[in-house]
Amino acid sequence: MRTLPIYTYGFEVLRKKTKKITRVDDKLVEIIGSMFNTMHKATGIGLAAPQVGLDMALTVIDLSKAESGKKLKYEPLTLINPVIKDYHGAIYLEEGCLSIPYVRAEVERPETVFVEYQDIDLNKNYVELNGLLARVAQHEIDHLNGILFIDHLTKDEKKKLKPELDDIRKGDIETDYLLAELPKKDKNSHKRK
Ligand code: CO
Repeated sequence: MRTLPIYTYGFEVLRKKTKKITRVDDKLVEIIGSMFNTMHKATGIGLAAPQVGLDMALTVIDLSKAESGKKLKYEPLTLINPVIKDYHGAIYLEEGCLSIPYVRAEVERPETVFVEYQDIDLNKNYVELNGLLARVAQHEIDHLNGILFIDHLTKDEKKKLKPELDDIRKGDIETDYLLAELPKKDKNSHKRK
């Protein structure tokens, strides 16, 4: 199991629709283990493959260490090729993202979602998710479609976050977890400006 560098806002990989997974091999099992490890080290509760630079429809979720008042029992989840099939309700909750460090915002999303996904044996599952789990699953499934939580904000809300987002894009940020390095040409083009 490895700790993988996390790709931050500005990297193209976060903006691509991911490829479906059609077979599970040792390499994929290793990737899943590394993703859980990476997420735990960064004290995240969800992590999608594009966030570690991988073009695959895969996300891991573990709410057992979520900072919420009540201690709920959650099993860690590995979602392969997840799709939201139905939803209802609407609720505002604050979100953050390991790929957008230090930025947090209230986002409105459905309260309940029905998700179809494949497990590690590629068996199909259909689950109803509520509460924090519904929220995290929607955030992660968005990642698999190249969507970030800030995309759900109004223009004005996003404008307010621009200075922070620009800093992240330029790599002008420090985190206590490993980040992917910006390509050299990006760094140079910023210096020239
Ligand atoms: Co995220």
